[in-house]
Amino acid sequence: MRILVVGKGGRESAIVWKLAQSSLNPTLYTAPGNPFTGRYGTNVPIKDSDIDALIDFALREGIDVIFPGGETPIALGIADEAERRGIPVLAPKRAAAKLESSKIWAKSFAKRYRVPTADFEVFTEDEFEDAVEYVKAQKFPIVIKADGLAGGKGVVVARSVGEAINTLDQFINRGKFGEASKRVVIERFLVGEEVSVFAISDGHRWKVFAYARDYKRLNDGDTGPNTGGMGSISPVALDEETRRLIEENVVRRTFEGLAREGLPYKGILYFGLMLTENGPFVLEYNVRLGDPETQAIMPLLNYDFGELVVSAAGGRLKGEIIREPEGYSCCVVLASKGYPERPITGFPIEGLEEAERVADAIFLAGVREENGRLITAGGRVLSVVGVADSLQKAREKAYEAVSRIHFEGMHYRKDIGL
Ligand code: AMP
Ligand code: GLY
Repeated sequence: MRILVVGKGGRESAIVWKLAQSSLNPTLYTAPGNPFTGRYGTNVPIKDSDIDALIDFALREGIDVIFPGGETPIALGIADEAERRGIPVLAPKRAAAKLESSKIWAKSFAKRYRVPTADFEVFTEDEFEDAVEYVKAQKFPIVIKADGLAGGKGVVVARSVGEAINTLDQFINRGKFGEASKRVVIERFLVGEEVSVFAISDGHRWKVFAYARDYKRLNDGDTGPNTGGMGSISPVALDEETRRLIEENVVRRTFEGLAREGLPYKGILYFGLMLTENGPFVLEYNVRLGDPETQAIMPLLNYDFGELVVSAAGGRLKGEIIREPEGYSCCVVLASKGYPERPITGFPIEGLEEAERVADAIFLAGVREENGRLITAGGRVLSVVGVADSLQKAREKAYEAVSRIHFEGMHYRKDIGL
């Protein structure tokens, strides 16, 4: 069994680490990978956006399953190309990936299939003035979202008319995120607790397999700019009724809606939800696992994730092997100074060996190896994970390990899991 994981972040490190424990005993390749994924298999120097090169490599090496970690290759159509050339892949085709790559498409889809989501309006490139008139008549805060992919930075919660107009100007007129922000969704601000729900599907059947929470803001107390995620916990305590509402009104309606649209969904689907007083509402769909949610989820899985992945990619999901997690996990991300705007990198990382004795897992991300030393090479450098029989203990373990690690400019949140 040969599996090719596509990506190079902490999420892909955690995926490869878990796949390496599979009873299928897979030979693992990661493109392009990082020094951590290199310990568990072969890193292949191909970028995640180079679909042709990835597929050529997979055919040449007899890859049995391709598992793309992030949205870039999926939105570029890696699943369409892999299936066309006969390679099983755990990802949706480009048309279904619009759930993530177009917020306008996703919102309209949710509305068509009665998946609860915030009321919204769409404005396109030549409707800036209409958008301004619209926001002037709204209550604040209000949420403005770039239509396309913006690396997690395309959502602004505007607190005033001035801020809303400024954001619309940046997005629509100045093309802050290029084509991605020339069309926008403006939606109602929802109040509640956020939860990330992960389901896996083979194109016919689906199953929820994890609940997690990520901490998107840079600083303690949910302050500072939005980031890709500064930490995560799993699972999230939810009562039976909430889980039922999530599975029936959100997950089922979404998968059934996709099938009815002629877009049967194979892959992992991430539902970003707000638990409001009127029940769970979809904030966003992602067509993949989350980063850093995956780093908290993988160490908790008490079954063969490799078997689940391979069965789903092959079109016959073994959902019955999924079990409830028995413990709690807490993941703290260590970032470079300047992240997310302009990370400053190139510093040696000290203390990893001692930290590894305490943590349940340490997943490398923005790291390179130089003469046998690990050097920072990206915004999010590594994820430190503690697992225990309570969230409190998992948290203490993670932070105990963090205290042993050092690199210049190291920044992390002190309140993950609080
Ligand atoms: P998204 O990328 O759509 O998940 O948005 C990023 C973050 O913005 C979410 O995790 C929420 O914290 C916040 N957000 C998005 N939409 C809303 C909304 N309608 N009401 C309140 N907060 C929101
Ligand atoms: N942690 C948020 C994401 O992966 O989109």
